[in-house]
Amino acid sequence: MAKLVELVREALEQMPPETRFRPEDEEVIARHRETLLSWTPELVQAFYDTLFAHPPTKAVFREGERPDREKTLEGWWQRTVEGPLDETYFAWMAKVGLVHVVRGVKNPMTLSMLSFVADFVENKSFKAVLPEAEPLSEAFHRLNTSVGVVITYAYDSFRAQALYEITGIEGALMDRIGQQESQAILKRLIEEGE
Ligand code: HEM
Repeated sequence: MAKLVELVREALEQMPPETRFRPEDEEVIARHRETLLSWTPELVQAFYDTLFAHPPTKAVFREGERPDREKTLEGWWQRTVEGPLDETYFAWMAKVGLVHVVRGVKNPMTLSMLSFVADFVENKSFKAVLPEAEPLSEAFHRLNTSVGVVITYAYDSFRAQALYEITGIEGALMDRIGQQESQAILKRLIEEGE
């Protein structure tokens, strides 16, 4: 099985560089460390209010679990803001993606909340009239897009690995089967006028 950092590299390399998290992004985040950390309680509250207001995401949580999850998110935010936002960070995120899978959190839930966090930073930065509101917001959009890319890429790879262990079908063959089947489905959709 490929190491997590190798998966991270493979995933990030597929992103056009303009869309990928970059060193200047990490620098602008570092310059705003104190401000970003001061937003922690508000971010955590808004994050979980959003998840608990939506039945499919609310259903993931166990009775009385919210305080623990809030602490988890606080820790994640602190680690994110304090950096370093290196391969180890992205590899950790791939692992967190897997922790989520085990608990029945679907990728659309995680990806939309990554976007929620980036939007939160953008709104707060502009409201606070931070001189670097724009680069800071862009940095979080690129960071969370990159995290989402890593999570979904690693997820595909873990699934391929699980399938290989159960069926013995190699990932490359499964990709070919997937491509062929997609072609057949696409043909049917076109024929049915969808
Ligand atoms: C921005 C998106 C998200 C981030 C950054 C995030 C971050 C994390 C982190 C760091 C952990 C701890 C993982 C570990 O124990 O190693 C965690 C656990 C968890 N997260 Fe998330 N999360 C996100 C979205 C979500 C969503 C959308 C849900 C549910 C709808 C969710 C539900 C959970 C649950 C239930 C656990 C506990 C897993 C367990 O140990 O049983 N998370 N999350």
